[in-house]
Amino acid sequence: MTDIKKVVVLGAGTMGFGIAGVCANAGCEVLLLDLEKSACDAAKEKLVAGRSPVITDAGNLDRISTGSFDDDLDKIKDYDWICEVVVENVDIKRSLLSKVEAARADGSIVSTNTSGIPLRDIYRDMPERLQQDIAVTHFFNPVHIMKLVELVPGEHTRPEVITTLADVLGNKLNKGVVYAKDTVNFIGNRIGCMWMLSGLHVAEKSMKDNGLTIETIDALMAEPIGLPATGLYGLVDLIGLDVMYNVGKNLETNLPTNDPGRAYTSFTDSVQKIYDRGQLGRKTGGGFYKLTRHDDGSKSMEVFDLPNDQWKAAVPVTLEESDSTLEKLFGRDDANAQFVTDIMVQTLSYSADLVPEIADDIVNIDRAMRWGFGWKKGPFELIDLIGADKVIDVIQSKGQSVPKMLALLQENKVTSFYRNDGAEYFGIDGQWHQTS
Ligand SMILES: NC(=O)c1ccc[n+]([C@@H]2O[C@H](COP(=O)([O-])OP(=O)(O)OC[C@H]3O[C@@H](n4cnc5c(N)ncnc54)[C@H](O)[C@@H]3O)[C@@H](O)[C@H]2O)c1
Repeated sequence: MTDIKKVVVLGAGTMGFGIAGVCANAGCEVLLLDLEKSACDAAKEKLVAGRSPVITDAGNLDRISTGSFDDDLDKIKDYDWICEVVVENVDIKRSLLSKVEAARADGSIVSTNTSGIPLRDIYRDMPERLQQDIAVTHFFNPVHIMKLVELVPGEHTRPEVITTLADVLGNKLNKGVVYAKDTVNFIGNRIGCMWMLSGLHVAEKSMKDNGLTIETIDALMAEPIGLPATGLYGLVDLIGLDVMYNVGKNLETNLPTNDPGRAYTSFTDSVQKIYDRGQLGRKTGGGFYKLTRHDDGSKSMEVFDLPNDQWKAAVPVTLEESDSTLEKLFGRDDANAQFVTDIMVQTLSYSADLVPEIADDIVNIDRAMRWGFGWKKGPFELIDLIGADKVIDVIQSKGQSVPKMLALLQENKVTSFYRNDGAEYFGIDGQWHQTS
């Protein structure tokens, strides 16, 4: 296994500057390159700025040197790991990686930080050496805060490339490594985007049928489920509707033919309307929420009334005790509980049908959602919390078929996915395994 000491980061944008920073903090020598050297120098300044700087020790910043693709790519021959982090465009990534391939030394490792482009589309028809030395290292944003990195081999990737990357990511950078497969959006974004994109549809139905508001929906989707306080609409505002739109398009192209996610790759009519007029989220000053700072220093929050297509004052929501946990809400038939049940049944069923398609076991899926999306419990841990039998009953009462992993539990007369306080998990072979 190569000891990674020198890292090239290609791209000094949102992700690249964070990756450069965490590598420098871990003691690696870093070469940060972009189209212009000035972009890398600006990124270096950003690394020590702000409320939560990536680098707090100036000595670590000195480990980062900067340059441009045109002038400095030949330097990469002296580096162990070349991490590509440029824009999410397969042609741009391929063009840069073919130059990297010509310049790098034998034995170096290459990774790409795509969010959802299949790795095989990136290395297709590239030299065999690159196909053997490349993997996806999918960091999450902000890099220095989010624990998750999804590690994805290609069809020809040498096992040593994966063990070396797992070692540097896990042991040097202190990341939580999840082993994913070369399937669209890997693990976290496959499930997380299903939850968000299907959630926008389910939530709007609850608004129309039962008069739920965005504020109630977000309150229900936060604390009771163990999800971050942004809830559903607040999270989409943070990510941006433009990003979600592109995620939907990528899913439309790359999801398997019969995947249930295909029903949700487009927005609802009212969300499409606000997307079309550029009301994209926090980046445009408002999406579903709009925070206004007044001259006297006070702030006010408005929320977008989707059914009526207008802004109105946001009303803080305090949930009743009976709505405070997923166990209490799941399967009840009042308006709040119906919404929570509909959205969570969809997400939990989807997850339970994706093993082994996207990961070899449930542990990698649960970790991806905890470490990448800030869920307190992953989908299989949530099923255990509700009770697998109850989840199966609700799925069947909706006329849906029981997903693979839940069917396997039933066949083996087992009632939970974990036992011994999580020390063992239920595998696809129907046996109990140690959770490592
Ligand atoms: N931002 C996120 O939340 C996030 C999370 C996980 C993964 N990713 C993935 O990481 C990668 C980088 O995303 P980002 O958010 O840092 O993007 P970004 O737009 O902040 O930065 C992209 C970088 O690519 C460079 N670039 C643009 N055009 C180029 C070209 N023609 N040739 C070479 N370089 C070019 C830019 O100069 C810029 O520094 C993408 O593949 C993205 O999908 C992003």
